[in-house]
Amino acid sequence: MSTWLVEKCKPLADFVNDIKAKGLYSYFTELEQTGTYIKVEGNTLVNFSSNDYLGLTHDPRVIAEAKKALDTYGSGLCGSRYVVGTTIEHVKLEEKIAAWKGKESCIVFTTGYQTLLGTISALLVKADDSIEDNIVLAIDKLSHACILDGCALSVGTHMTRGSSKMLDGQIRYFRHNDPGSLDSIVKSSTNKGKNVIIIVEGVYSMDGDICHLPEFVKIAEKYDACIAIDDAHGTGVLGKTGRGTAEHYGLEEHIDLLMGTFSKALGCVGGFVTGQKDVISHIKHKARSFMFSAAPPVSNIVSVSKIIDIIQSEPEHLQNLRQNETYFKDHLKRLGFNYGQSATPIVPIIIGDSEKTMYLSKKLFADGVLMLPMVYPAVAKGEERLRCTISAKHSKADLDKALEVLEAEGRKIGVI
Ligand SMILES: Cc1ncc(COP(=O)(O)O)c(C=O)c1O
Repeated sequence: MSTWLVEKCKPLADFVNDIKAKGLYSYFTELEQTGTYIKVEGNTLVNFSSNDYLGLTHDPRVIAEAKKALDTYGSGLCGSRYVVGTTIEHVKLEEKIAAWKGKESCIVFTTGYQTLLGTISALLVKADDSIEDNIVLAIDKLSHACILDGCALSVGTHMTRGSSKMLDGQIRYFRHNDPGSLDSIVKSSTNKGKNVIIIVEGVYSMDGDICHLPEFVKIAEKYDACIAIDDAHGTGVLGKTGRGTAEHYGLEEHIDLLMGTFSKALGCVGGFVTGQKDVISHIKHKARSFMFSAAPPVSNIVSVSKIIDIIQSEPEHLQNLRQNETYFKDHLKRLGFNYGQSATPIVPIIIGDSEKTMYLSKKLFADGVLMLPMVYPAVAKGEERLRCTISAKHSKADLDKALEVLEAEGRKIGVI
């Protein structure tokens, strides 16, 4: 066995072991039950760390659809979408999502991460696989890892094709959610905005703030740039009917590529990209994370489909979510907690110190509340927080329980 490999990995392992020894390590908890209420070592806790915003993962109608699909199609497809991984259910779901999002066409990926990875890198190659060396990717400085990795893969893809043309300069970062910063990047791009792809998130996952989409769309239209949105956390959550951030602003028709994941409000796993049919066809035939990875199983696909039906026909889930969010935030504010710019059910309770954040998380855990800490490198130093997420299925008693512990323990350590 190689000793240098062990030496190389030791510093991080030591760091993790040290946190564990202090009893402050909160990750990889082994759950015996999942959903709004989870079970750990026989104890039930209220879950404030899931992205199951509408609480539909355990809806009996969804489970029934999945069971039927398991009987018909088995546990997995064991092949990529290209070969034996496309069923009529995959195609039906793609048609349903395209119609829901008001776009011509859609493709479904195995994860949201792969959706961004594949879509971004596919747009950087031409039909004949040669390089688009005049496209600029304009992205937010606080972009999710899947956007950053999508850009990095674009560089990598080009490099492996023997070209030195794709340069870091083709990836330009604008200040977080700052239209002025984006405007100057687009204006100064080689073709004065043409061939720029602006990529934003509908809702930012660590802060719960909403993208300033109207200003970004104006910039895209002013310079003839195109705009793509990763609406992972907006889908099912924002807009009058839950169609997402673009619906929230009434801008669906102005977005070139609308993407999202099934792993948040849609309660499953997978991702989608929607847009004009030729653009989607290009992505379908060039996205390596789509072509070279196994298709999502049908039980998952029909579950997503059922959840979309429920969102469309039962607005009460979204109403509950919004009521819970307002109630919880009103109380947090009264207590003096800082939840930053959150305008969604992602409620960062910003503590600004990693040990205090982990202490609070542990205390909450001991009192039956799962609210996981986010510390460096997941967030910048000084911005350590409890990443709290509200669900439509939380009862008032659940919300009060979390608030009580936060108040008592927060006072003890001088956070409020
Ligand atoms: C903004 C954003 N995009 C994409 C993803 C990736 O989605 P998935 O979990 O489906 O891979 C996430 C998940 O954390 C996310 O927060």
